[in-house]
Amino acid sequence: MWPLLVKSADLAHIGALFCKYRPFDQDMTQDLQNKPNERRLFIKSYGCQMNVYDSGRMADVLGPHGFAAVEGPEGADMVILNTCHIREKASEKVYSELGRLRALKEKRARDGKDTIIAVAGCVAQAEGEEIMARAPIVDMVFGPQTYHRLPEMVARIDQGETHVLDTDFPVEDKFDNLSAVGAPRTVAAFLTIQEGCDKFCTFCVVPYTRGAEFSRSLSRVLDEAQRLVDGGARELTLLGQNVNAYHGDNGKGGTTDLGELCRRLSEIEGLERIRYTTSHPRDMDDSLIEAHRDLPKLMPYLHLPIQSGSNAILQTMNRQHNAKTYIKLVERIRAARPDIALSSDFIVGFPGETDQDFEDTLALVREVTYAQAYSFKYSPRPGTPGADMETQIDEAVKSERLARLQALLNEQQIAFNEACNATRMSVLFEKPGRFDGQLIGRSPYLQSVHVEAPEHLIGTLEEVEIVAVKPNSLTGHRLGATGSAAKASAHGA
Ligand code: SAH
Ligand code: SF4
Ligand code: F3S
Repeated sequence: MWPLLVKSADLAHIGALFCKYRPFDQDMTQDLQNKPNERRLFIKSYGCQMNVYDSGRMADVLGPHGFAAVEGPEGADMVILNTCHIREKASEKVYSELGRLRALKEKRARDGKDTIIAVAGCVAQAEGEEIMARAPIVDMVFGPQTYHRLPEMVARIDQGETHVLDTDFPVEDKFDNLSAVGAPRTVAAFLTIQEGCDKFCTFCVVPYTRGAEFSRSLSRVLDEAQRLVDGGARELTLLGQNVNAYHGDNGKGGTTDLGELCRRLSEIEGLERIRYTTSHPRDMDDSLIEAHRDLPKLMPYLHLPIQSGSNAILQTMNRQHNAKTYIKLVERIRAARPDIALSSDFIVGFPGETDQDFEDTLALVREVTYAQAYSFKYSPRPGTPGADMETQIDEAVKSERLARLQALLNEQQIAFNEACNATRMSVLFEKPGRFDGQLIGRSPYLQSVHVEAPEHLIGTLEEVEIVAVKPNSLTGHRLGATGSAAKASAHGA
């Protein structure tokens, strides 16, 4: 699972995602034994990959201040919930989790131990002190642009303050002041290059929770990429709410676009794969399309959300593209990189959506054909224009449309996976599988691939023949090494 957005059913895996970023391992247990004063920190991420990235950075910031990351809330001296506000269900999750944490905090208090409970991320930004009013066990609430100030906030709590709130928007400060990213310990790492959004789609909270669009400079992105690769990463996913609107300062009085950034990243030795997410159709420019044509390291997979196939709905959503321009764009991208696999996001039941509008969405899906996609019922978000529209759609209608759309998307996903059967593709081994002697890797098209292979191959690319296909994964047999390590040994031979 690697979308920008995580389906609510998958929220249970998000903690695991974070653990993958920074696993609780033997070394850390050792650290805690050696440093009895060290405090245990548990961060739980909800929502998109930018939150997963941010959670890693929070752990990096707090590490030098005596906090060691652990994998569960039990025994933690500090718990941070890094929250998502995108749909009502996502934000309500936070309150149920806070209910569970209350019992934990009270039990620890009876044993004479303090527990700092913090709410970060997009719910924190959107609801601010309301969170503390609704859940008094919360000690700290801070928004996505304030993570560099975490040590100071913790110090205030240590000095006796009971409620610390920080929801400012000093966007440049966050990246400028965050310490260098820690060793990734993962083969596939995230790298945030852009944050925020100026597009104001009428359904979406992101421009309000993450603030205005901001791009990190080229040199900072390249430095961080190099550090991640030096630390063992072989694949980088560049992150941004509008990642292809990237326009980082190039240090020469101009800016660098995403296509050019991918070119520069391609030159990093040891980096085998580049991905990016999430892109807006309006910002898919020629430079990026040409990068897909020219750069073997840029993976043939593109998450390109359209939301609806109806021009009328796209207009009320303020999407700044229509179905026809999207289809033309897909044609241009496929001409540049014929094997590219497409993914998308869809919202059904946006205010005013008629049966015909919904049929237009199904028709667009049939015309484009996706390798996989995410689809959601419209969830009115307070403060967004969509929430005030009078033509809200009945829940039952939304559910029925979602089921029909998902049936079609599933069919396409299965067909895409089936078409991979008996083909050969390179797989980047990322982690051990469920069974002994098995590894899990990713195909170029982001599918999980299970392969019998020894553990020392984690972090390497191999050519694999696909021998079995399931709706959500593939099984492959090894054929031999690919990637730069293989090229180097072939060269030396
Ligand atoms: N920046 C990305 C999307 C970020 S939000 C883009 O422009 O495509 C991720 C996805 O969540 C969106 O693509 C949309 O499909 C879904 N989403 C956002 N707001 C929503 C809402 N109010 N109700 C239901 N789904 C929503
Ligand atoms: Fe939200 Fe639209 Fe911005 Fe994407 S482009 S983050 S959907 S406002
Ligand atoms: Fe959710 Fe905020 Fe990401 S609302 S999707 S965590 S940008």
